[in-house]
Amino acid sequence: MTSFRDNLFEGKTAFVAGGTSGINLGIAKRFAQLGAKVAVAGRDPDKAQRAAAEIGHDAIGLSGDVRDYDAIRGVMETVAGKLGAMDFVISGAAGNFLAPVLGMSANAFRTVVDIDLNGTFNVFRGCHDLLSRPGASLIAITAGQAVNASALQAHACAAKAGINQLIRVLALEWGPDVRINGISPGPIADTEGMKRLAPDAATREAHYARIAMKRWGRIEEVAESAVFLCSPAAAYITGTILDCDGGSQIGDASRGDPARGMA
Ligand code: NAP
Ligand code: COA
Repeated sequence: MTSFRDNLFEGKTAFVAGGTSGINLGIAKRFAQLGAKVAVAGRDPDKAQRAAAEIGHDAIGLSGDVRDYDAIRGVMETVAGKLGAMDFVISGAAGNFLAPVLGMSANAFRTVVDIDLNGTFNVFRGCHDLLSRPGASLIAITAGQAVNASALQAHACAAKAGINQLIRVLALEWGPDVRINGISPGPIADTEGMKRLAPDAATREAHYARIAMKRWGRIEEVAESAVFLCSPAAAYITGTILDCDGGSQIGDASRGDPARGMA
C-alpha cells in the first residue's frame, strides 16, 4: 500500500546504492511500484541479482563497493547507459557493529566511516554529471546517531554526523538544479541494522518504551518518506533531514509514562 498515486515516477530513473537488502531494498521496491526504472547495487553480485528479481519491473542489480570511487562511478555509468539519466539517487550503503572505542582498531573505525561517509561522498560526487538536471533528487540515509551520541557507536556516530553536514553542503552547492536531503530512520523492524544493535528481546522491549510511537518502524514507512522527498510535493525542500523515527529523537517517552509514576 502506498499513499501516492499510481505511476507517480513513470519515466524516471532511480539508483539505490546499498539497495540489495533491508530499508534500501524497500525504497527500491516502492520506486519501482510507482513506475520508476530502478537499479540497485551492493558488494555481493548474487545478492544484487536476487534483489533485482525481488523488485521485478525489469530492475537491474549490479555489484560495486561504495568505498571504491572508480567502482561505484562505473556502476552509475552503467545505470545511466542502460536506464537513462538518473532522476533519483539514494545513498544507503552502511556497515555497523557494536564496539567500544577501546575494542575497535583503527581499521574498524575507518571501515565504517569509509562505507557510510566516504561512500556517500563517492556516490553523490560520482553521479552529478549522470543526473537528469534540473529536477534531480538525492537522498542519503543517515541515522539518529548523527545527532545523539551513542556508546559503542563511535564509528557510526562520526560517519552519520558527517553525512548530515555533507547533505547540507551539497544542497548549497548544487541548488537549484539538484535537491539533496536525508532520511533518518528510527529503529526499523526486520533489518540487519536492528539485529546488530538490539540482538535480544529484553533490549528490544526496553527500546519500545522509550519511543513516542511505542513501536519500531516498518521498512515501508521509510520508503514512503523517500517517495515524498522525490515527489513534486517536496519541490522546495532541500538540505533537510527527515526523521522517520516515531519520535525516537525527541526524547525518552518512557519518562512520561504514568505507569512509571513519572508523568
Ligand atoms: P542492510 O540490510 O545491511 O543494508 C546494507 C546494504 O548496503 C546492503 O545492500 C549491502 O549489500 C550494502 N553495502 C554494505 N557495504 C557496502 C559497500 N561497502 N559498498 C556497497 N554496498 C554496501 O542494512 P539496513 O539495516 O537495512 O540499513 C540500511 C540503511 O539504513 C543504512 O544506511 C543504515 O545506517 C540506515 N539505518 C538503519 C536503521 C535500522 O533500523 N536498520 C536505523 C537507522 C538508519 P552488500 O552486503 O552486498 O554489500
Ligand atoms: N567489533 C570490533 N571490530 C570489528 C567488529 C566488531 N564486532 N566487526 C568487524 N570489526 C573490525 C575487523 O576486526 C577489522 O579490523 P582489523 O582489520 O583491525 O581486525 C575491521 O573491523 C574491518 O572488518 P572487515 O570484516 O575486514 O570489514 P568488511 O569490509 O569485510 O565488512 C563490516 C564491513 C565490518 C562493517 C561488516 O560488518 C559488513 O559488511 N556490514 C554490512 C552490513 C551491516 O553492517 N548492516 C547494518 C547497517 S546499519
